[in-house]
Amino acid sequence: MEMKHLFLDDYSEGAHPRILKTLEETNLSQELGYGEDDYCRQAAETIKAKIENPYASIYFVSGGTQANILVLASMLKPYESVIAPQTAHIAIHEAGAIELTGHKINVVPSKDGKIKPEQIADICDEHTDEHMVRPKAVFISNSTEIGTIYKKSELEGLAEICKQKRLFLYLDGARLGSALASLESDISLRDLSRLVDVFYIGATKNGALLGEAVVITRPELQPDFRYHIKQRGGLLAKGRLLGIQFLELFRDNLYFDLARHANEMACRLVHGIDALGYSFLSPSTTNQIFPILPGSIITKLQQMYGFYVWEKMDSENSAIRLVTSWATKVEAVDAFLIDLRSFRGVG
Ligand SMILES: Cc1ncc(COP(=O)(O)O)c(C=O)c1O
Repeated sequence: MEMKHLFLDDYSEGAHPRILKTLEETNLSQELGYGEDDYCRQAAETIKAKIENPYASIYFVSGGTQANILVLASMLKPYESVIAPQTAHIAIHEAGAIELTGHKINVVPSKDGKIKPEQIADICDEHTDEHMVRPKAVFISNSTEIGTIYKKSELEGLAEICKQKRLFLYLDGARLGSALASLESDISLRDLSRLVDVFYIGATKNGALLGEAVVITRPELQPDFRYHIKQRGGLLAKGRLLGIQFLELFRDNLYFDLARHANEMACRLVHGIDALGYSFLSPSTTNQIFPILPGSIITKLQQMYGFYVWEKMDSENSAIRLVTSWATKVEAVDAFLIDLRSFRGVG
């Protein structure tokens, strides 16, 4: 049977029509290569204005794993490590890419996808001398891998402990749009630029064909970053492709409009699923949600919808992951809810 809709991820569709239109309109303009074109320059200036930090440096790369490798490998010395929650993308879903660069990940337990200042302090205190790695960076993501977000006070707490312990704070923003557009979020791009040493603004999962903008606010981490990008194969000859897309996303509020739409679709799913009496793995207010459903219902839904079974909760129930995107239609959400209701025997 053909699937009614895929809730697998937020990159099942191509790009927002405005991006395709701009790519077509700019197609024949001749530009310098390797990100030195006018579009990349303008996009970088636009982002600096949005984050209200003229001293930041901006680099466009093609994907999230690449951004994580580049940022972490460039900021760490050979014997230094990165602290991350156990749910972190770098710890589970990057095929050991960070470890391949020679750096240990100090994984700390986390139920909500977040990390706490005390955990960072404990790891630092446990690593006392040159017989062990030296923790030098903290990896967080916003939204987290289970859809939760950091509040400003939490981020301030992390920034403070990182300052005390002389650690770099790095935020993976694969789904930053969704995080900042969450109704529960009290963080702005400006706050991030103030509190975090490096972050990236993810666009692959928010309307672009592909692309992430790495923002480095800490001056000592800025020199030579382009060498790192080049050496790891990330400096695209047609870097314009990334600049054009970011320029369009940040020309007005498109980036946040798209994220808000994805969140609204997820929120509609949450309300509908909650009304049927099911609970959730995490209190997500972003575009990834994790309802806990009986196996028999999951099997029926799998015949009609694409999604991942995320975590087994007990012998009968599992959490599934449903992801909405900038392109998800209300009709797809409502069809899912109608089918779920009928499988539950309520409708
Ligand atoms: C939080 C986070 N970071 C990084 C990535 C990796 O992105 P990519 O698949 O573009 O390498 C993902 C992808 O799902 C992600 O969710």
